Amino acid sequence: MPDKTRVLFVCLGNICRSPLAEGLFLHHLQTANLLDAYDADSAGTGAWHVGNPPDPRSIAVAAVNGVDITQQRAQQVEDVHFSEFDYLVGMDHSNVARLKRLAPAGSAATVRMLFEHSGQDVPDPYFGGNDGFQRVFDMVFQGTKELLDELESKRKR
Ligand code: 4NP
Repeated sequence: MPDKTRVLFVCLGNICRSPLAEGLFLHHLQTANLLDAYDADSAGTGAWHVGNPPDPRSIAVAAVNGVDITQQRAQQVEDVHFSEFDYLVGMDHSNVARLKRLAPAGSAATVRMLFEHSGQDVPDPYFGGNDGFQRVFDMVFQGTKELLDELESKRKR
């Protein structure tokens, strides 16, 4: 079996957007019977919430859609992630700019936006209301599905 494709989803705090991206990417993998072909995790560029579970609003919007993200714990992006993952997928332009500055010299990892082709940001919902989390959920559901389709079209078999 070829090596797994390893994907790290990245936002600012690793409590709102990227935990949903990790959970929904795993959900799509499960639906497609592809869990064996990928590893997925998430991290934040900031350290404020390291060790914490996802924001209760992300947990809630995932739960009503049948996705459990309660076991996740926030971590900060580290140098080692650039060798442990093939793709570091930022939720917005600011995440991607930060990742590009953090990338160790000679890193072979691909740093990209979730919506790489449209350039659309997944908006930071942290300081808003519950509506923001539903919108983020819907965007991330679609974005992680399109990402999986794209990675599947490139994967070595
Ligand atoms: P996230 O949202 O990047 O989607 O996890 C945020 C969570 C926390 C903070 C900012 C954004 N914060 O400033 O603590």
